[in-house]
Amino acid sequence: MGVMCGVFAVSAESRTDAGELTLQGLRRLEYRGYDSWGFAVRGSDGPATITKDVGKISEADIAFPSSGEVISHSRWATHGGVTQANAHPHRVGRVTLVHNGICENYAALKQAFPGHEYVSETDTEVIARVIDHYLGQGMGPVAAIRQAVEQIEGRYAVVCFIDGQAGIYAARRGSPLIIGRNETETYIASDIPAFLTETNVVNYLDDDEMVHIVGGKAEYFNLTTGASVQKRDIAVQWQYEQAEKGDFAHFMIKEITEQKDTLKAAIDHTDTELNRAVNLLRECNGAYFIACGTAHKAAMVAEYFFAEVSRRKVNIVAASEMKYFQQFVNDRTAMIAVSQSGETADTLEELQKAQTKGAKILSLTNVVSSSMARMSDVHLPINAGPEQAVASTKAATAQMALLLLLAYAESGRTNEGRELLHTVAGNVNDMINPRYEEHIAEIAKSIVERENLFIIGRGALAPMAYEAAIKIQEVSYIHAQGFAAGELKHGPIALITDGVPVIVLGDDLETISNATELKARGAHLIGVSAQRDDIFDEWIRVPDCGTAQCIASIIPVQILSYHLAVLRGVDPDKPRNLAKSVTVK
Ligand code: M6R
Repeated sequence: MGVMCGVFAVSAESRTDAGELTLQGLRRLEYRGYDSWGFAVRGSDGPATITKDVGKISEADIAFPSSGEVISHSRWATHGGVTQANAHPHRVGRVTLVHNGICENYAALKQAFPGHEYVSETDTEVIARVIDHYLGQGMGPVAAIRQAVEQIEGRYAVVCFIDGQAGIYAARRGSPLIIGRNETETYIASDIPAFLTETNVVNYLDDDEMVHIVGGKAEYFNLTTGASVQKRDIAVQWQYEQAEKGDFAHFMIKEITEQKDTLKAAIDHTDTELNRAVNLLRECNGAYFIACGTAHKAAMVAEYFFAEVSRRKVNIVAASEMKYFQQFVNDRTAMIAVSQSGETADTLEELQKAQTKGAKILSLTNVVSSSMARMSDVHLPINAGPEQAVASTKAATAQMALLLLLAYAESGRTNEGRELLHTVAGNVNDMINPRYEEHIAEIAKSIVERENLFIIGRGALAPMAYEAAIKIQEVSYIHAQGFAAGELKHGPIALITDGVPVIVLGDDLETISNATELKARGAHLIGVSAQRDDIFDEWIRVPDCGTAQCIASIIPVQILSYHLAVLRGVDPDKPRNLAKSVTVK
């Protein structure tokens, strides 16, 4: 059924190696889904040849025939098994198609368009069937695709070949598609790194638009009216090397290490840019920060930042829970979205609902071309550069740094915030070094066999305890749970038995007193703090960063999670069941 995946297609008339080119590009999108993969390769005549299989595209060995046009797909299944039959592309009649998103009414469409024997359990095959139906009625490709996608309920990005028609067609609503172009070649991808080796000139396909590419030409149409759409060429700033692993064993550790620089980049905003965000916040009388997963934990620290720095109470809500509070959103509400990808479906949908009520949208995203960025009244990029590992690391600390600067800007003390964050960036730069990493790797060895692990913190370090748990769970599969330090004695302390590792974030008196209660019950304490306390069994030093302590404190836990994953034989970049960009609900 529905998938949220990587899509990459190439139309390069004068090339014969589009297969290999697509393979390399699709591998750079693997973070989006890695259950199975597939290619449709167009020869000089006849239908495209489909090759697809289960497994990771990074491990696939494929011999491509000579071709200048290929469509490819890397899948993350939501429903419907991980099987070769369910892998994309799907072919029905004249149509060979890949799909990212979810066709919610696929069952109804199957009934409405009988006459095809389905070979997969996906919601995708029916889209190809409906397009083929309209082609069979004599419609041209653009009309047939428009007519078909109009009937899809849900979010989608579809890319297809049509037999007998030159080039590749694509349409989108809610799932990203970016067009890259040079003079003789055009690319369609879910994300820019797929084609960054070839070009940095892009056009963004908007919702309810479609594109037809042939060689170096791209024609755009509005899906509703069929009218032609003109696009502005945009040169993106990301460098190809930024999206490569280089000498690092995994993207995760590369991205953790990059935090030496990304914190500074995150706060690289002029007063004018920050003031636009501040004005939006000041003009509204209610503020909801919404986000998911790690971005949600990063947003949670904003509640502490705004309370401490600008004395303002803001609301932080997991985007998947926001629907229960939409009743309080009106044209005086500020909705602040925090997201690495800017495409997360739960967040996007709540923003869209709020926008229809007149709420003002401020977004902090890493992907500047994302749906969230483009729908916002004010957008602040977090400038972390491409984040490819499924586990969010540098994006999370960049989000927190920018949120803290925003709190300072709102209180009229932007420069004080900048100074603090520059000091923090310098401290983090000193902190991340091979010796530091080795020390943490040793600690990882001492706890790697443990089945349970707990993390505690207070104040802004409480959300970091929750975030630490996400990091450890998602890449090492160890059961980890984070708690506000003071909450332990109200229940969770029953879980503490002899030798259970507890990571203690912070060294303030109350946290140490809570840690002491755990120690008395046999816990093995790993302190992550500026000062070493005698009760810690092991200690990882973090520099004293004042209000920004949470930013520095999560980094050693990221490193610990990475080493736990490697020690347990998990690929930290592609842990099971996950995908980087969660574009389905
Ligand atoms: O792209 P986003 O920041 O909106 O993604 C939100 C979450 O899906 C993401 O942070 C997820 O929790 C990470 N895998 C955690 O490392």
